[in-house]
Amino acid sequence: MSIVIITGGSRGLGASIAVQCARRGMGVILTYNNNSQAAKQVVATIEADGGKAVALELDVSNSASFLAFRDAVTEALAKTWGAQTFDFLVNNAGYGLYSPIATVTEDEFDGLFRVHLKGPFFLTQALLRLMADGGHIVNVTSATSRVATAGVAPYASFKGGLEVLTRYMAKEFGERRIRANSIAPGPIRTELGGGLTEEFEAMLAGQTALGRVGEPDDVGCMVASLLSDDNRWLNAQNIEVAGGYII
Ligand SMILES: NC(=O)c1ccc[n+]([C@@H]2O[C@H](COP(=O)([O-])OP(=O)(O)OC[C@H]3O[C@@H](n4cnc5c(N)ncnc54)[C@H](OP(=O)(O)O)[C@@H]3O)[C@@H](O)[C@H]2O)c1
Repeated sequence: MSIVIITGGSRGLGASIAVQCARRGMGVILTYNNNSQAAKQVVATIEADGGKAVALELDVSNSASFLAFRDAVTEALAKTWGAQTFDFLVNNAGYGLYSPIATVTEDEFDGLFRVHLKGPFFLTQALLRLMADGGHIVNVTSATSRVATAGVAPYASFKGGLEVLTRYMAKEFGERRIRANSIAPGPIRTELGGGLTEEFEAMLAGQTALGRVGEPDDVGCMVASLLSDDNRWLNAQNIEVAGGYII
């Protein structure tokens, strides 16, 4: 059985990715930051479906905690699956913040940097030795790295950095047959940045070829299928999952 670690698996895209991966037979380790109850609910949904999942606490902005997190993963792998390694890592955790360049503060900038670029970098580094050869890393970036959307410059810049980092991961981990790809969702109906207002959603739907914004499962199903062996030759790519957003 393949085992996947999904950061930010308590809500939104991460919760959907967790459920969809479990439906395809993967064991799931999902992380939460503030919402342990929501994470428990995702675990319960997976178990009700006949799958196996464990929820672990992780603050992606706190790289000093990553070695302790690795110990918690080691314990969960042994206890739940009798395993010493996991196969797939989905760096998904994140948050949105509207803050134009003219007024963004250093604290806002640093917070977004820690979660969206530094966190995935050092978390991947910490977990590498537990990842099986032939594994797959999926980094969740954003269509805002292609389409400039006023008010999210630091967020989009770090997502762009994560796209570049993905190619370097593919380059450096290839000798262990570990692949790395990023997926860039367009607007999806989650609680990111406080969620979408009705008016904003209608505007975004009008900018999307398929005429609506995305739902979490539009991304969850895609990531779960991306992890299948059918995609074994896909490497070092950024794939937009956006229904044709501003094309
Ligand atoms: N929704 C969109 O339109 C969209 C578009 C493009 C890209 N994305 C990206 O997709 C990813 C998921 O976003 P979403 O829309 O699913 O957001 P969401 O519904 O707000 O969920 C965010 C998830 O990330 C976790 N999280 C937030 N800060 C964290 C931290 N410091 N450490 C660890 N976990 C943290 C949350 O955990 P807790 O709830 O436990 O605190 C939650 O599980 C993000 O990277 C986001 O940038 C989203």
